[in-house]
Amino acid sequence: MTKAVYPGTFDPVTSGHLDIIERASRMYDHLYVTIFSNPNKKTMFSLEERIELLNEVIKGFPNVTVDYSDLLAVEYAKVVSAPVLVRGLRATMDFEYELQLAFSNQYLDQDVDMVFLMTRPNHSFISSSSVKEIAMHNRSVRGLVPLVVEDALKRKINSVD
Ligand code: COA
Repeated sequence: MTKAVYPGTFDPVTSGHLDIIERASRMYDHLYVTIFSNPNKKTMFSLEERIELLNEVIKGFPNVTVDYSDLLAVEYAKVVSAPVLVRGLRATMDFEYELQLAFSNQYLDQDVDMVFLMTRPNHSFISSSSVKEIAMHNRSVRGLVPLVVEDALKRKINSVD
C-alpha cells in the first residue's frame, strides 16, 4: 500500500489545497492531510477549527485522513509508514521555500521524499493569507475556498467585529 502525507498549516484550507488533495488521493492508496505547527505563522483558525474544516472538505475522499502532529514532518511520515510528503507549487517564489524545506527534510531523513504537484493556473494566485485579507474586507471569496470555509470565514470575521 502506497501512502503519502500532505503537510501544511491549512489556515484555512483553500481550493488550491483541495485540488492537491484530490490529485494526490488518486496517486496514493492513502493520503494523510496533516496539520503541523509552523512557528512563523500566527493562525486565524484554531487547530480544532482547521481540523473540522479539513474533515468537512475531505468527505468525498474515502482514502484521505485528517490528522495533526507536533513532530517533524519526516518523523510523522515514518510513524504512519508513508515514504512521501506531497506539496503544491504555485510559482518560483514557492520553489525557493520548498527547496529549502526539501533540503532540511533530506538532511533529517533520506528515506522520505518530497513530491511536488504544480498548482492549477486558476489557483496560482490563491493563498490562505490572500483569502483571509479579501474576506476581512468583506469581499467575496467564492470559488477561492470550499463553501464551508467561506461560511467559517464570515463567522470568524463577524465575531471579531
Ligand atoms: N494552491 C493555493 N495555495 C496554496 C497551494 C495551492 N496548491 N499550496 C500552498 N498554498 C498556499 C497556502 O494557502 C499558504 O498560504 P499562506 O502562506 O498565505 O498561509 C502557503 O501556500 C503554504 O501554506 P500551507 O500549504 O498551509 O503550508 P505551510 O507552508 O504553512 O506548511 C509545513 C509548512 C507544515 C509543511 C512545514 O512547516 C513543516 O513541515 N512543519 C513541520 C516541522 C518540520 O518538519 N519542519 C521542516 C524541517 S525544519
